[in-house]
Amino acid sequence: MQVVSFSKLGQIGLITIDNPPVNALSQAVRAGLKEAVTQGIADSDVKAMVVICAGRTFAAGADIREFETGMKEPFLPPVLSLIENSDKPVIAALHGTALGGGMELALGCHFRVAVGKAKIGLPEVKLGILPGAGGTQRLPRLIGAEAALKMIAEGNPISASQAKTWGAVDEIIEGDLKEGAIAFAEKVLAEKRPLRRASQLTAKVDDPDLFERYTSSIAVKQRGFLAPFNCIKAVRAATELPFEQGVERERALFLELVNSPQSKAQRHVFFSEREVTKIPGLPGDTPIRDIQSIGVIGAGAMGVGIALCCANVGIPVVLLEMNQENLDRGLAVIRKTYAGSVGKGRLKQEDMDRRLALITPTLSYGDLSNADLVIEAVFEDLAVKKEVFSQLDTVCKPGAILATNTSYLNLNEIAAFTRRPQDVVGMHFFSPANVMKLLENVRGDKTAPDVLATAQAIGKKLGKLPVMVGVCPGFVGNRMFMPRLRESFFLLEEGASPQQIDQAMFDFGFPMGPLATADMAGLDIAWRHRKVNYEQLTPREQACNLLDKICELGRYGQKTGAGIYRYDERRNAAPDPLIEDLIVKHSAERGVTRRNISDQEILERCLYVMINEGAKILEEGVAARPLDIDMIWVFGYGFPVYRGGPMFYADQLGLATVYEALLRYQEQLGAEFWKPAPLLEKLAKEGKGFY
Ligand code: 3HC
Repeated sequence: MQVVSFSKLGQIGLITIDNPPVNALSQAVRAGLKEAVTQGIADSDVKAMVVICAGRTFAAGADIREFETGMKEPFLPPVLSLIENSDKPVIAALHGTALGGGMELALGCHFRVAVGKAKIGLPEVKLGILPGAGGTQRLPRLIGAEAALKMIAEGNPISASQAKTWGAVDEIIEGDLKEGAIAFAEKVLAEKRPLRRASQLTAKVDDPDLFERYTSSIAVKQRGFLAPFNCIKAVRAATELPFEQGVERERALFLELVNSPQSKAQRHVFFSEREVTKIPGLPGDTPIRDIQSIGVIGAGAMGVGIALCCANVGIPVVLLEMNQENLDRGLAVIRKTYAGSVGKGRLKQEDMDRRLALITPTLSYGDLSNADLVIEAVFEDLAVKKEVFSQLDTVCKPGAILATNTSYLNLNEIAAFTRRPQDVVGMHFFSPANVMKLLENVRGDKTAPDVLATAQAIGKKLGKLPVMVGVCPGFVGNRMFMPRLRESFFLLEEGASPQQIDQAMFDFGFPMGPLATADMAGLDIAWRHRKVNYEQLTPREQACNLLDKICELGRYGQKTGAGIYRYDERRNAAPDPLIEDLIVKHSAERGVTRRNISDQEILERCLYVMINEGAKILEEGVAARPLDIDMIWVFGYGFPVYRGGPMFYADQLGLATVYEALLRYQEQLGAEFWKPAPLLEKLAKEGKGFY
């Protein structure tokens, strides 16, 4: 297939890129562009050229897969120089998303026109790299260093009109893009407009402290990432060096990143995020049930969050509670949440009113009779779930999907409370449900294929990243969270402090450590879980009863102002001498001699225990692929995106390294906690990874 074509419309040479789905600048496209531009330059009938793309978008960047396989010539920078050095005007005609190398292509042209809806940006930083085809040098010269710095180091696209204001776009085209671009080219010729070569402009920087100020402003948000800081260096070079040297600096900074583990991890996340929503073995054309209205049961924090998600995307919700007081409280939270967004200017008052009008409160199950999907978010107790699902079985129309938000209970048992287990599915939202991106959908043994497909589709519609998992206690995320928490308590007992454990995990890249997370989630939840499962615990787990001791003091975490840490009214954590004392006494009572524990041991014990559990989850088929586990941990539990998720990270470490450490800890701490999963053992011995 010819991915670049050249045609003539009078004196205008039209270069069309047609490389679906997003016109990525693959080797074939670069070669085609080079040939077409050369042809246009050589043809004396051609006086100007327009570069345009077929399909849904202007080029959305380099072909990211080529970073893995290695780029082949021609490279993009010399093709862009060829364009920029042409004496005939070259105009880029933008629509859709002109991103990354696509935007760099546009910057290499002398002029840019765009449809009003086009978006333009340099999102490379989100892949752990920086624009590597002159973007960091041309953009600051075109729109000034400050605006360019923000675009490049944060990676968010801007609208065509914003680009016009800043001078990155010359004209917004109202009607047909091709016609408009050709008319623009004719105008350039008629007016004999001088060619505007971005490389020959000067990058303006108004504030002498711009780069220092900006670096410190992103220090917290971009903690741990390499790419944003290399982006800053590259843009700075545009303000200090001639173009050619700036490009060399850009190249060096780009190469530093493109081969780094961080960028590999971020590219892995880019592709996995797209792959994960597809269910292996389920045909892509599986029919989807029509969801026009949703019922939510329970107006607690979870139910309210789910109701907000539905209303946010325009789906009517019936919100059911058992008593008026709870219902009123839930509705008040909904109103407060929206009012907060209006107050911050993120939501218009009329949109708030429209969303509120979509939520119908009720105390009667009968009002769920028309719902296409009902999501229950009631108390985590099988008897309560039985009551709810028996009622739903009676009132819901045939074909309605009955979903449970349970985070631990057995979905198959819940499905068996109905006469329609094929319609029952798990939809495990994460708190706060209107904010967290992850949605763990759970397939029961009898869940129908179209229900699975619908759960994924509606998850996406609600703005979530839906990952399909199988039934087991805690599913994937919480099942891996629990052994990590167990290890954290063991480490406390053996000599570590809460701060040391949390700091080690924070430094690894988590937004907070496991103990601070447990405080945030509510220690009572883990405590309740512990009590319910007490008989199944090993003797050491039973004896390591720090959680009991802390909870017995009424310290349930952030919500009670104290847990493992103490909290002020703004929920800032501080270490509590009372807890430190409690831990030391606990070790003494248990006859454990406290020792110095290295950060490395903390990291290994908290992370490898998860990786080992992940391997078991894969073996059992609870997660279909390692990428499902990785996306759950990146999008639901704050695993640093630049480490790609626990399974990808394990591969980067090398499974042999992980395996050897498991054997060491098995010796030190017992096989009941540290026996290597057979899959991990097998892969490590074969020198393979999870991927
Ligand atoms: N390279 C390779 N494949 C790409 C791609 C790219 N740059 N961009 C998208 N794709 C693939 C996706 O993986 C997906 O494949 P699939 O159908 O097999 O899952 C398909 O194209 C469609 O993509 P989306 O599902 O994401 O489609 P959307 O319509 O939701 O979004 C988009 C379109 C906004 C363009 C989005 O795909 C996107 O953000 N793409 C990446 C843009 C980007 O990061 N560009 C910079 C690349 S690096 C670069 O240019 C380096 C340069 O400086 C040298």
